Amino acid sequence: MSERVHNILQISTGAELGGAERVLLDVVRTLDRRRFRVHVLVPRFGRLAEALRAAGIPTLIAEYWGRGHRLGRYSSWREYARALLSLPQVGGQIRAIARRANEMSVAVIHAHGIKAQMFSVGLAPLVRARIIWHVHDFLRHRRFWRIFQTLARLVPDLLIVPSHAVAREFPRWENVRIIPNGVDLEEFAPSSPRRAAGSRRVGMIGALAPWKGHFVFLQAAERVSRVLPDVEFLIVGDEIYDTTGHRGFRQAVEREVARRGLSSRVHFTGFCADIVPILQKLDVVVHCSLEPEPFGRVLVEAMACGVPVVAARGGATEEIVRDGESGLLVPPGDAECLAEAILTLLRDPSQLAEMGRSARAQAECAFDLREQVRRIEELYESLLA
Ligand code: UDP
Ligand code: GLC
Repeated sequence: MSERVHNILQISTGAELGGAERVLLDVVRTLDRRRFRVHVLVPRFGRLAEALRAAGIPTLIAEYWGRGHRLGRYSSWREYARALLSLPQVGGQIRAIARRANEMSVAVIHAHGIKAQMFSVGLAPLVRARIIWHVHDFLRHRRFWRIFQTLARLVPDLLIVPSHAVAREFPRWENVRIIPNGVDLEEFAPSSPRRAAGSRRVGMIGALAPWKGHFVFLQAAERVSRVLPDVEFLIVGDEIYDTTGHRGFRQAVEREVARRGLSSRVHFTGFCADIVPILQKLDVVVHCSLEPEPFGRVLVEAMACGVPVVAARGGATEEIVRDGESGLLVPPGDAECLAEAILTLLRDPSQLAEMGRSARAQAECAFDLREQVRRIEELYESLLA
């Protein structure tokens, strides 16, 4: 192991706190400061920069993609064309960040998300750093997949993916490493003593975004309420994406709650900076993404808190949740099955408690943040050896 302190520049695509940004935050807070000095580049001031600065992590705020930051999966070609107007600004940002990276002797650039990765393509010829791309999403169906794939072979030294499901997008690639996300198991822990029996609560946690399946959750909530009228439902999270097509979803979900006559049963908490006290109040966490989930941090967070999950199959959920042991798996988009699974768990408190214990044990074995960070440190060391 080398004695030197290595400078690491992490680049975030997002500025708020979704799964990928939480992963970045957890990793940089946990990396061994005796061996790695971390700097983070974020595109604008937001919850991520706030949390990084509160943790004492040097944080640089620069809108490195200019107008390009608003581009996303729902953007039109016209918007892409308009974003080209920012190219001179992007060129300036590339030169400025490359200069700073060289002044700081940055040894590794660790880029999270496509925009950060594409920015690192511009930095690559100008810096003396090894490059890691941390791929948090499925990209094969995205419009720039071919370009991404070509660049991913040429530019980064390594790709990190959080699950076998995402790794399958890169079959037989030798530079792909699977490192599952972990959580801080002391912070994410069951409440003690276990909360007293009272009214039962089922929660859905995550960004308010169409593919997360809030409408399916509400349909299931209506069915469950007909059988068990005392169950409360929590929708935890808010609209956090400012890319095209993400605004207005919260209102649509609120209207659906009213339309289904669920206003007294369903509560919106808004965005919660600290999710642990909420998890500790829940009996079941529901995850019902309509699209395959690349990882799904909320699954692991719930399990670490000893809360069983009912999760939609697809993507990494089958790697994370053991059906019948740490939760129940249901087909995506099927509200009837989802309601049945919730009812099965709520009707049998001893099974629920047993599953909660297994969920916690599984999180301890497979999703420990310290292990994730140890493996990332090992990658840094291997690149710098
Ligand atoms: N989250 C949060 N506050 C909220 C709702 C969600 O901090 O009000 C966090 C949640 O704890 C999790 C992340 O947002 O760490 C969501 O990550 P996940 O990987 O499940 O989904 P993503 O939104 O990244 O697709
Ligand atoms: C992305 C994925 C999510 C994953 C997170 C952290 O936001 O959509 O599934 O948990 O990144 O890797």
